[in-house]
Amino acid sequence: MRVSGDRLLDDLVKLGKIGAREGSGRTRLVLTPEDFEARRFLITRMKESGMQVRVDQVGNIVGRRGSSMNEKLPVLAFGSHIDTVPSAGTLDGCYGVLAGLEVIRTLNDERAVTRHPLELISFSDEEGVRFPMMVGSKVASGVMDLETAYELRDNAGITYRQALEAGGLLEGALVSPRRTPGEIGAWLELHIEQGPILESEHLKIGIVESIVGLVHMLVTIQGRAGHAGTTPMNARRDPMLAAAQIILEVNKIGRELSRSSVGTVGLLNVQPGAMNVIPGKVEVGIDLRDISGERIDQGIRKVTSAIDAVCKKLGLEYTTRERARLAPQPMSKKVMGSIELAAKRLGATYRVMPSGAGHDTQNMARICETGMIFVPSKGGVSHAPDEWTDPTDLALGANVLLEALLELDRA
Ligand code: GLV
Ligand code: MN
Ligand code: MN
Repeated sequence: MRVSGDRLLDDLVKLGKIGAREGSGRTRLVLTPEDFEARRFLITRMKESGMQVRVDQVGNIVGRRGSSMNEKLPVLAFGSHIDTVPSAGTLDGCYGVLAGLEVIRTLNDERAVTRHPLELISFSDEEGVRFPMMVGSKVASGVMDLETAYELRDNAGITYRQALEAGGLLEGALVSPRRTPGEIGAWLELHIEQGPILESEHLKIGIVESIVGLVHMLVTIQGRAGHAGTTPMNARRDPMLAAAQIILEVNKIGRELSRSSVGTVGLLNVQPGAMNVIPGKVEVGIDLRDISGERIDQGIRKVTSAIDAVCKKLGLEYTTRERARLAPQPMSKKVMGSIELAAKRLGATYRVMPSGAGHDTQNMARICETGMIFVPSKGGVSHAPDEWTDPTDLALGANVLLEALLELDRA
């Protein structure tokens, strides 16, 4: 039994057009009109493939292909997300969801019956650009409660609940997102690697053994706005100067904390934001990751004391707020074993490796056995418009997902 690579590619191209803008990839921040359009595309495809579709109270889309043998056995679930970062490629998240759909279609074509019911899940808000990361899988796995999720606000002050309502997602019969332990037997996420390892080692499949932990921290530095031409250099309280030094410190800590640590400032919000105005306020968004939770804590302590020292030296007030935290997460040996068997059966070269990107799988690991399959990313590029994986590798990854699921279904 093999998936159709062409059918998968066709869907990836179609979904990739939603929210696309010439020269800047596609932008589908969660619960925006572009995301709603992508959701409609996916739901239509799921229904065409005979799946029973439900959207739960936090906006996760769940397509079910029941088992005519035993509806009571735990569900085998798989999928990813279809929201994107700004100016994204076509593959991050979308590949895992559409390959899952292709797996279902392949089973349908073969009239295959699985022992376990299957569920394809597209989690809401994986990327965490508009709201904190992974709200959908956090609520599904009990890491966050629904009320807390509903009260999260974006920069414009719109709550997660209002954003759901704007898309009509809180109308009609509503299903609880919370999945109880035992209800799902295993969760599998197929994803592009988003890094350079598989390509540089000429390997086709990555079997993820652990996912890094991360902290997102938002620092707000208050200064005094003023005229860029008339305010003497020694009479300024310029929060941008603090931001510049904090950026350098985060980079240094990312380099020095451990071999697996990374530190990034990818967000600066400068107010009022004009060339001839000394900023009055600057927000700095920090992302710090490591495979060890203790080292993340250690790194955050270093970042915090660097911020304090920089702002004190410049006489600036500041506040810090943790926006998201994900613990490092090992994967299940059983699911890793099923992926390895699948790769062997398909004659694919593979290696066991960590994931430097965060994934909904981290949250699902709280309630079931989990595993992730990686395929190579050209040049290691992701979170950018030119994200690319060879179509043959995309089809191979989908076949590994199919085989691993069939293996778990037998177990
Ligand atoms: C998810 O895309 C992440 O930031 O790792
Ligand atoms: Mn992703
Ligand atoms: Mn991503």
